[in-house]
Amino acid sequence: MEPKSRVIKPHLLKDLPMISHGKGIYLYDTNGKQYIDGCSGAVTASIGHGVDEIVQAMVQQAKNVSFVYRSQFKNQAAEDLAVKLSKWAPGDLNWSFFVNSGSEATETAMKIAIQYWQERGIRGKNKVISRWMSYHGITLGALSMSGHVLRRKRFSALLDQLPSVSAPHCYKCPLNQTFPSCELACAKELEIAIQRIGPENIAGFIAEPIIGASGGAVVPPAGYYQEVRRICDQYEILFIADEVMTGMGRTGANFAIDHWGVVPDIMTVGKGLSAGYTPIAAAIATDGIIETIASGSASIMAGHTFSANPLSASIALAVIEYLEKYDLVLNAKHQGVYLNKRLTELQQKFPIVGDVRGKGLLQGVELVADHHQPFPLDEGVTNQIIESAMEKGLIVYPAVGGPHGTSGDAFLVAPPLTIRKEEIDKIIDILEEVLSEVQFACIQNGLLGDIQAG
Ligand SMILES: Cc1ncc(COP(=O)(O)O)c(C=O)c1O
Repeated sequence: MEPKSRVIKPHLLKDLPMISHGKGIYLYDTNGKQYIDGCSGAVTASIGHGVDEIVQAMVQQAKNVSFVYRSQFKNQAAEDLAVKLSKWAPGDLNWSFFVNSGSEATETAMKIAIQYWQERGIRGKNKVISRWMSYHGITLGALSMSGHVLRRKRFSALLDQLPSVSAPHCYKCPLNQTFPSCELACAKELEIAIQRIGPENIAGFIAEPIIGASGGAVVPPAGYYQEVRRICDQYEILFIADEVMTGMGRTGANFAIDHWGVVPDIMTVGKGLSAGYTPIAAAIATDGIIETIASGSASIMAGHTFSANPLSASIALAVIEYLEKYDLVLNAKHQGVYLNKRLTELQQKFPIVGDVRGKGLLQGVELVADHHQPFPLDEGVTNQIIESAMEKGLIVYPAVGGPHGTSGDAFLVAPPLTIRKEEIDKIIDILEEVLSEVQFACIQNGLLGDIQAG
């Protein structure tokens, strides 16, 4: 029998709706069904779908030139994009290395960090340590740094054991402590890990400023990143902020790390950089790092055929100009407050909603059984939410909840930064139906203890 599709999808046996077009926060399938893109795809389509300005920039650049190779020519679009990013980024993060995906960006960041120390004559600093609750990408280097247990498992024999410390997750503190009496024990754990591994072996520490898919928009307590910065400085370790999901205005600031006024040594961006109009990502490094490499070998050992191609660069540039023109970072901040308020109302209504958290338009909802305990994984509660929402015409993004990455349910609500209040209300109306349905099923299955079906 002929299969319906020969594209390898995340679930080989599952058919998916065929999308014909999109406009604003909406996607439409070939049967005419409308979906609200409540999570911007994979937290990517941050200016919404079908934006004419981007299409025009795309066509113009394609007419001029689509591709030149980075070792043979420079091109204006990539030059302008690097300048634009240096203006958006904090401190002296002024140099962009362009790649095609978030995974390549974090892996490139890892290589730049290791090379930086080598160029200074320090050859032992080769590890980039990370937190257990994290996702930095699917290629082997990026996966080595990722604590996402489910994504690591099959390949663990090939991966370095780089996740070393607990996440700053106050709702379910992995260290069983409470803020502020914990005195930031999670940051202290980083210091202890560095002492154990030996700073002479560590090139950098990588973290998602707000933990995305592997935690469900986990925001650390006040002072955490300042303490991380102090520890990295004290032990001469580069701090890499992975802003692939949180960057480019998503959280209501240019970059999530800006909420804490901390300047990393290297930052990665992807997803919202092109808002999904083309594959492009970047590792952004400080003047100090690039000057050191420039006065040494003068060549960073990384890169891809399509790195810094003019077509993708011009599209990303047009996306950033669109973000600026319509003040969408500010909109993300204001609408994020409203979205959080409306999700918190759902939390008050549904015992299954344990926690609502996030910043700007990156909001996470953690789902819990009795007494804030995680559901058994094989109940697939997150999946029930995703499927029920999809059926009702709303897309939300699955995330891992729980402190250890081995259990726990959560999902992300992360609509395009263009969203308006009335559109958020529509998302909430659908989510209310979804939560009611899934909570009812959990009660029927005896997963919610004392809570009775109404
Ligand atoms: C924080 C973070 N880093 C890196 C990646 C990997 O990006 P990509 O899927 O574009 O390779 C992701 C993807 O979800 C991410 O959320």
